[in-house]
Amino acid sequence: MRTQVGIIGAGPAGLLLSHLLHLRGISSVVLERRSREYVERRVRAGVLEQGTVDTLVAAGVGERLLREGLPHRGIELRYGGAGHRIAFERLVPGRAITVYGQQEVVKDLIAARLAADGDVRFEVDDVAVHDIGTDRPYVTFGGGERLDCDVIAGCDGFHGVTRPSIPDGVLTAYEREYPFAWLGVLARVEPSAEELIYARTERGFALHSMRSPEVSRFYLQVPAGTDLADWPDERVWAELRTRLETVPGFSLATGEIFERGVTPLRSFVAEPMQYGRLYLAGDAAHIVPPTGAKGLNLAVADVRVLTGALARFYADGSTELLDGYSAACLKRVWRAQHFSWWMTTLLHTFDSDDAYGRRLQLSHLDYVTSSEAAAATLAENYVGLPYEDGDPAGP
Ligand code: FAD
Ligand code: DHB
Repeated sequence: MRTQVGIIGAGPAGLLLSHLLHLRGISSVVLERRSREYVERRVRAGVLEQGTVDTLVAAGVGERLLREGLPHRGIELRYGGAGHRIAFERLVPGRAITVYGQQEVVKDLIAARLAADGDVRFEVDDVAVHDIGTDRPYVTFGGGERLDCDVIAGCDGFHGVTRPSIPDGVLTAYEREYPFAWLGVLARVEPSAEELIYARTERGFALHSMRSPEVSRFYLQVPAGTDLADWPDERVWAELRTRLETVPGFSLATGEIFERGVTPLRSFVAEPMQYGRLYLAGDAAHIVPPTGAKGLNLAVADVRVLTGALARFYADGSTELLDGYSAACLKRVWRAQHFSWWMTTLLHTFDSDDAYGRRLQLSHLDYVTSSEAAAATLAENYVGLPYEDGDPAGP
């Protein structure tokens, strides 16, 4: 079997790349380990930056997103018995975020690929990449099948096979682990607030988000290694109430919890994001703690850059943009790394923090919520910085 671009992984990065390449007349095959049902049901991120929305709309996969997504023009930071609104419309005029579940983006992309007769294969075992240091790389999978390609895109997430296939000594890994995780739940209950609430309390961080007028999404900071079995529904609701019902007049509506999971928090970057004819995109190359809501948005930014570079390669044979792929992505990656680390340290409780550290954290929060300049810094990063290519509509 032969294709131009072999794509490993049908998460947001792999699917969007396949779709954007198709729009440029470039063929690809997507190989995914899990079933279609599994990837369409995997609950993860929910916040899309303006640029992500613009990219999906320009690519023709934004119809349901525009209809069902919830545009938000601010978020609340809640601590010390008061809520403070970060008002995007004032701080970063014309820019907003849209709340729309990652698995809905994945469903829309799979539907678009299949409607265009795209080759997306699910439940593919034993994927391995070969000869990536040459200009004739290939992929083997499923007990004897072989896919020859010009280029391989490693879109297989943090635990994938492509990054570890790069020879020792090529990559430098930068990493930070956090001593806590997020327990996330989806509940059938109307959101108790119109906008997202990022709450810092002495007992830890909590986040009130949503998916629709009928479904709310919540996260709780819990110790690393937390077992879901220790968190029956009553305990989840009691802890959410304690951490969120901290301002006068706010009460949390509760309902049936129908999805739950624990996500460890980690910061990670592998540099460079490429080796030979293998290009890493999204979580395969970098991970951020979810506090800044950047993971999915970074994956989209990477594949925009990769699409532009591949389009040039197929147009005139030039590898100039492909050679500069990693450098072109890493500037944005590191900005998101800093922002995500910063939001995490601003809002979580660290057991290692002494009383002095906690006072510094509160002073920092007071500054962010009282200074226009500091609030604008948060807002500008949260809604997402403009793309380097300057084209809001996509590559
Ligand atoms: P992924 O979505 O991980 O997709 C990679 C795909 O590759 C998967 O479908 C996987 O099955 C497949 N794959 C892996 N190995 C192989 C293999 N060997 N062969 C074939 N296929 C393979 N971000 C936020 O902003 N907010 C959140 O609340 C949030 N929650 C998260 C919860 C979890 C549990 C995780 C893991 C991530 C979360 N993120 C969150 C981050 C965000 O979801 C990711 O940044 C985003 O999914 C990145 O997309 P991706 O396509 O690069 O990787
Ligand atoms: C959601 C996830 C995040 O990581 C975040 O910062 C905000 C919202 C969500 O899943 O809704």
